[in-house]
Amino acid sequence: MPSAEQFPAHADLASVLVTEADIRKRVRKMGKEISALYGDEEITVISLINGAVLFTADLLREITNPVRLDCIRISSYRNETTSNGKPQVLGSLTLDIANRHVLLIDDILDTGKTLSVVVSLIHKLNPASVRTCVLLDKRGRREVEFESDLVGFQIPDKFVVGYGLDFAERYRNLPCIGVLKPNLQNPPEWA
Ligand code: IMP
Ligand code: MG
Repeated sequence: MPSAEQFPAHADLASVLVTEADIRKRVRKMGKEISALYGDEEITVISLINGAVLFTADLLREITNPVRLDCIRISSYRNETTSNGKPQVLGSLTLDIANRHVLLIDDILDTGKTLSVVVSLIHKLNPASVRTCVLLDKRGRREVEFESDLVGFQIPDKFVVGYGLDFAERYRNLPCIGVLKPNLQNPPEWA
């Protein structure tokens, strides 16, 4: 496997916040925590794509429970100047989640808008339970009150890329998580 340093995109990072090894270790531990939390129950995982694709793929392989997987895509609200900044769910779930234990997985909890919208939508579908799991949490950025049940790493208020997180759809394939060099963050098209 190529090291993070061998990725050309690595040169665009000002710093690495979470290494590939850190991620692997933490994801393994989170998988164990989730398996213990749910006992013998089946889990219906709902992954928020695209950002959570890599995290979801790795985490699922560390969960020993029976798992059903569905994905939802959320419209980006960050570039919109006219809307009220409310994330919209694009498309619908394919699985029936009534009376199921739902675990929502996202890459990062930032303002909290995305997950609070998705959680209230899921609640309307009468699941047995709803929990959330995020790899990263920028607690200092919260605009709506929201805490995730499971968090991989707390990170400072910096725009990060890698391991699923993008800047204008790029850098998702970086194996580590890092902060882009300031000159590459202009204009700030958070997607
Ligand atoms: P929230 O609705 O503000 O909590 O934002 C959640 C979404 O914003 C995440 O799923 C990401 O797609 C995106 N996001 C927030 N912070 C970052 C970041 O630092 N890098 C890349 N995407 C981010
Ligand atoms: Mg996202």
